[in-house]
Amino acid sequence: MTDIQDNASIQSCEAVAPSSTANIGPGFDVFGLALDLFHDKVTVRKHETKTGKINIILSDKSNFNLKIPSDVNSNSAGLAVKKLCIESGIENDIELSVLKGVPPGYGLGSSAASAAAAVMGVNHLFKIGFERKKLVEFAAEGEIASAGVRHYDNVAASLLGGFVIARSSPRLEFTRIQPPGNLILVVAIPKLPVPDKKTEIARSVLPKQVPLNRVVENIANASMVVSGFLLNDVKMIANGIEDAIVEPTRKGLIKGFDKVKEYALNNGALAVTISGAGPSIIAFSQSGEGVDASRIADSMRKGFLDSDIEANAYVCGPSNGAYIISEPA
Ligand code: HSE
Repeated sequence: MTDIQDNASIQSCEAVAPSSTANIGPGFDVFGLALDLFHDKVTVRKHETKTGKINIILSDKSNFNLKIPSDVNSNSAGLAVKKLCIESGIENDIELSVLKGVPPGYGLGSSAASAAAAVMGVNHLFKIGFERKKLVEFAAEGEIASAGVRHYDNVAASLLGGFVIARSSPRLEFTRIQPPGNLILVVAIPKLPVPDKKTEIARSVLPKQVPLNRVVENIANASMVVSGFLLNDVKMIANGIEDAIVEPTRKGLIKGFDKVKEYALNNGALAVTISGAGPSIIAFSQSGEGVDASRIADSMRKGFLDSDIEANAYVCGPSNGAYIISEPA
């Protein structure tokens, strides 16, 4: 329950943001794709009292065994809204009710979806008028809570929808491309407990220095991915999903990865990679041409099972970005 005391009227609105997959092979911390698979919903309540308090109430749809912190400075939605309020001079007390639909800790942009929906809701309720791209900056602040650093790929995808390229240096810029209509994704989520701060751990194993030839390989592959999205060519996207830098290191953290990848490729997937920081694995495919996505899903489940790990596998498409579902009431 809230500890904000308020006798005056309370206004509220609800915002929803989708799950996402980051990196997409060679685009570490740069590429993101919104997934029409899971969604977080945040109800933002504005109190008339002005002590600058942000209260977070968490609940979940799927019994995720939520280990998400609810204090403002450790919660992605809380941190993001705090930054937004400071920059826009909002002092009202705010309550954020976060209904988790995106499983936390599985590489599907869960913390990003909460932050994206929260900033979207606050921006709308307080009629601040920030553009979505500006909201991405605030939402990225929330990633410090889970990843230890700001990264923009998941939050940009969750807020802008579609395929996004997040460039952070020398200037922050985001490009959004509408994905091909025939792009299909299959996401396998192992039923494994994930450690707290999983993303931080998955980042700690990454190489600090990379040989030039691998960098060249990844730039070429990333260019293929972008070209494929621009040309609406799923096969070209898939051809570029080869990662010479991050996947070779991180796959060691995901038991069964090689089998899941091999089986999915043998069953119609065009490319397979780690979803974000894992442990979910994502396969790329296209509708038509005799492709049966449920066969790919079955094969990925079997790949995990061969390593004694149960998994769920889902077929989905790309998603649009975060949206408001109810006006201030
Ligand atoms: N790009 C980030 C990483 C995504 O791979 O660490 C984390 O979800």
